[in-house]
Amino acid sequence: MKPTVAIIGWRGMVGSVLVERMIAERDFDHVQATFFSTSQAGGAAPDIGIDTGPVRDAQDVKALVDFDMIVSCQGGEYTKEMYPALRRAGFRGYWIDAASTLRMEDNAVIILDPVNRRVIDDAMSRGIRDYIGGNCTVSLMLMALHGLFSRGWVEWVSSMTYQAASGAGAKNMRELVTQMRAIGLAGSKQLDNPSSAVLELDRAVQRTLSSAELPQVEFGAPLAASLIPWIDRGVEDGQTREEWKGFSETNKILDQNPPIPIDGICTRVGSMRCHSQGFTIKLNSDVKIDEVEQALREANAWVRIVENTKEATLRELTPAAVSGTLTIPVGRIHKLKMGPTYLGAFTVGDQLLWGAAEPLRRMIRIVVER
Ligand code: HSE
Repeated sequence: MKPTVAIIGWRGMVGSVLVERMIAERDFDHVQATFFSTSQAGGAAPDIGIDTGPVRDAQDVKALVDFDMIVSCQGGEYTKEMYPALRRAGFRGYWIDAASTLRMEDNAVIILDPVNRRVIDDAMSRGIRDYIGGNCTVSLMLMALHGLFSRGWVEWVSSMTYQAASGAGAKNMRELVTQMRAIGLAGSKQLDNPSSAVLELDRAVQRTLSSAELPQVEFGAPLAASLIPWIDRGVEDGQTREEWKGFSETNKILDQNPPIPIDGICTRVGSMRCHSQGFTIKLNSDVKIDEVEQALREANAWVRIVENTKEATLRELTPAAVSGTLTIPVGRIHKLKMGPTYLGAFTVGDQLLWGAAEPLRRMIRIVVER
């Protein structure tokens, strides 16, 4: 008998990427999948090449309680409401979730198996049933830097992020492109006349950015031709919650005790779906650059070292080059002027793939193969 999987939130951005990836990797051959919806029960399920029957009601505890796995990309509110109800009703299967609601609970594991497969296996043997995808920035940082953490070389990390619109949601992606269009239209007269003064073009752009007409309900400020150095809500000590996750989730994923200090400033930029990060890494000894690169390269099958040259950086280390791929390039690797134990590096990763859907997809396979 194939394990049964209930899939919830498959119409959303992360859910659609998950289903796409499951089709590409033929995961549906190994499970018996049923699609659930909070709003469209009775409708047609997505075409995965196998009949999965009509879509069922995601609020129906009885319909869900006997599944071997429930995979939710529906968001935190759904988890908050349905997870306790299902466990109370006797759900004993695996809860695999993209939302942050349960991440820091003692009985939940943050899943990123190329990095913490040992933690996952250990938890499964102890009967732990809750497996939650990590924050996208954290997962992408760990995919990139795992080779340094696993060798115990890291004293602390400062990560300055450049996060994509997709991390804030589908509506935010649309808002970013709508802002871009408004700016393009406002500057089109000057663009069509190459001899016009560039400051006129700049004034046209600036007028658009300051105009109340520019759509900005989602971000609360212009993002196109600008940036926003604030993600999520404020927490203690001057941090945002996104910055707090960098420390707390990284150390939980690595099962690291005592914890490694990780901090930085998280910034939203006008990239569509790739998060980038610039790292200052304090090493605990003077590890040579070729050893650093070897350690990074050996850590997993997706990380790629990008030569520290302009050509390679422009070709391989940008959101435009990485979007839609599972590759995790790490480049700009060099020792910083602060001293031989200070390492600089830069990474880019697709936040919908390794940052969201891929760890969930792989967790389904881990359960199947157990
Ligand atoms: N919180 C992240 C962001 C995405 O806003 O970019 C989800 O992990």
